Amino acid sequence: MSTITAMPSRLLEQAVQDRRYLHENPELSGVEYETCNYIRSRLESLDIEILDYNAPSVVGFIKGTMGGRTIALRADIDALPINEEGNKSYISKKAGVAHVCGHDGHTAILLAVAEWLSKNRGEVGPNVMLIFQSAEEITPSGADSLVKQGVLQNVDAIFGIHLWQGLAKGKIGLSHGPMMASTDDVEIMIKGSGGHGSMPHETVDPVYIATHVIQALQSIISRKLNPLTPGVISIGKVEAGTTYNIIPSSVKLSGTVRGLTYESVEMLRDNIKQLTEGICTSFGAKGEVGYIIGTPPLVNDTEQSQFVEEVICKYFGNEIFELVEPVMGGEDFAYYLLNKPGAFIFVGMGGEKSAYPHHHPQFDIDEEVMPNAIELFIQLVKNF
Ligand code: NI
Repeated sequence: MSTITAMPSRLLEQAVQDRRYLHENPELSGVEYETCNYIRSRLESLDIEILDYNAPSVVGFIKGTMGGRTIALRADIDALPINEEGNKSYISKKAGVAHVCGHDGHTAILLAVAEWLSKNRGEVGPNVMLIFQSAEEITPSGADSLVKQGVLQNVDAIFGIHLWQGLAKGKIGLSHGPMMASTDDVEIMIKGSGGHGSMPHETVDPVYIATHVIQALQSIISRKLNPLTPGVISIGKVEAGTTYNIIPSSVKLSGTVRGLTYESVEMLRDNIKQLTEGICTSFGAKGEVGYIIGTPPLVNDTEQSQFVEEVICKYFGNEIFELVEPVMGGEDFAYYLLNKPGAFIFVGMGGEKSAYPHHHPQFDIDEEVMPNAIELFIQLVKNF
């Protein structure tokens, strides 16, 4: 793929080298200390100021020629707890840890952007904040932590990318609104009263009640949620009982809850609680709903996502831009967008070289799309 900015081939080679080094040396969410050292030393060698935020995130800052407005660019840096499979020459050196989401690519791309910007400071109008963020994959999230530390205080808009296997190679796109889902978890305890399986009348059978609860939860999706708004409630784990003829005294249900708008997420939360407690009470049992609040929905700011679309069409061509459909996976970039305008962008790489889905043990990015991602970030800065 061609690039528009005069980008030395050495810069692109370095990006591939960085990416492969990071791929071979992955670190789990929240403990990316070696990765941070690597990023830090690269930024320092480029004379980029490093701002004071808690490790293992690194935040670089480049003062623009015009000052005033500040644009933030974000890369997530963590890997996943999985054994990598396949025969890549740069396969993970650590058992049980692997970059199978593409965050190694994101980090290398932002390092290349940092290098280009630092060597072409005369062309950098706005201030640029370079956020290399820890712990995207877990709760508590690295984005949430940085936002709470005030990273966005002087930021006017923030942009992030994900190399995306679900979008065809060569395409770049986003949605002008909700793009990724919230990721709440729910734990429901149904407390009845156990006894002999042959004498149900002397018990309050929580297993039977659980079947009602599981069924009724789907009525929230079909009867409470606006049919034009996506939402998911999935119970993935049911824990109860020990043997054939004992009615247990409690049942635990664990599930995930996803929504695409701030309002629908709250509505799902309230209704799950109300319905579960009501059903349990009506059967003489007690229902307790525990909610583990995850990332909020990722909602792009319309004005900023229009700006991204314009930049993509202007510098890559109309045929490259793709209006993407929202996905029900989560992404902690959502925390930034709760606080400041901005947009999250998918850089398509699906095809022969990136054939496995994200989080698959054989997942790999297609390095050939990295130049376009680097270019995109640079053009967003130049046109901001
Ligand atoms: Ni990811």
